[in-house]
Amino acid sequence: MRILAIETSCDETAVCVLEGEGNFSDGAQLKILGNALYSQASLHAPYGGVYPNLAKREHQGNLPALSKAALEESGLFHAARNSVEGESKSLQKIPDEAFRASIREFLSGTAKPEIDLVAVTRGPGLEPALWTGINFAEAVAEAWDVPAIGIDHMEGHIVSALLSEGPEHTLSTKPAELPLLALLISGGHTEFALMREPFTYEEVGATKDDAVGEAFDKVARLLDLPYPGGPKIAEAAARSRARAGEKQGIVFPRPLAHDDTCDFSFSGLKTAVLYKLREMEGLSEEDKEEVAAAFEDAARDIVVLKTRRALERTNPRALAVGGGVSANAEIQGALETLIREEFPETALFFPPPALTGDNAVMIAAAAYLRRAHGAPEVEELSAFGNLKLAK
Ligand code: KG4
Ligand code: ZN
Repeated sequence: MRILAIETSCDETAVCVLEGEGNFSDGAQLKILGNALYSQASLHAPYGGVYPNLAKREHQGNLPALSKAALEESGLFHAARNSVEGESKSLQKIPDEAFRASIREFLSGTAKPEIDLVAVTRGPGLEPALWTGINFAEAVAEAWDVPAIGIDHMEGHIVSALLSEGPEHTLSTKPAELPLLALLISGGHTEFALMREPFTYEEVGATKDDAVGEAFDKVARLLDLPYPGGPKIAEAAARSRARAGEKQGIVFPRPLAHDDTCDFSFSGLKTAVLYKLREMEGLSEEDKEEVAAAFEDAARDIVVLKTRRALERTNPRALAVGGGVSANAEIQGALETLIREEFPETALFFPPPALTGDNAVMIAAAAYLRRAHGAPEVEELSAFGNLKLAK
């Protein structure tokens, strides 16, 4: 089965063509035939976060070219001179005339590629951005007469943690060990989801305010570090930790550490950083790096202590960590220690480094595994900004 997948939930425009064999329970082998990703991060950097209408405009402008690039890399792009007669139902639905015209142009220059399915992220995310991917997916699926299905972005992040990289763009799935606890840590979400049966989820805990990645991004802004702040904070913190000598001994709070839920809270931590910075006058670069390290320590500790609680509550066979913040080395290291020392029977999965952030490979992989398993699929496509994994 060959899938063309599209991801536009936030500020990455991504298109992937993936071929799959096998299934979730016995293990699947996937091959990335073509993959094209454009990150808009530098365009949003001046705003200190993602600006939804700019994201939408960029997705609209980039989807045709990225789709062509992914199909070309797959060897499935066949140039055509179709005159697209009239407007398909899917095209008629698209309000933006310029976007409609560019899809029409893409379709008239592209003969039907040998794909079986189009998969697209339907939420959660920024609705104007999600709609762009959905509109594009529906238009190409209708033109090529293949089904289009919607995928939950967070399920994509979970699936990314179950993938292992092999040679030559191949991926295999790790053994399905259920129940599986997913720890999702991204820019928009921070939550635990428990999978007892394939592709069904129970919510175990979630953030009451900011997502952990959002806290990294906001603290980076306070420290004048560019968006996206997570990697910059991690670099600054590492410089501070590596530096010998006198430190100010900054310690930030670990909100909700003592309540007995698996919920998170990060907004108080961000505010504590703000107050600390106001109190410290004439900040040197070294002071800022020390603040970054103290913040990262606190964020890491919150993630670890809530994960300990969630593991105790749910007693899973595996912990899968996904989302952009799963790239954080401090958090990865601390979770590895937690599992090794306290839950040695539990398997621990992280995504391959190239798949921690938003990408279309995880969307294609989730679509493939769902279909191969015979799990329910969503064909009525609408964008859901607040889509939830647990039904
Ligand atoms: O999953 P993702 O790419 O997009 C969302 O679905 O939100 O996650 C993006 C988030 C951003 O907040 C970014 O700052 C954070 O992941 N991030 C990191 C690191 N790399 C990315 N946070 C901490 N440490 C990192 N190394
Ligand atoms: Zn994401």
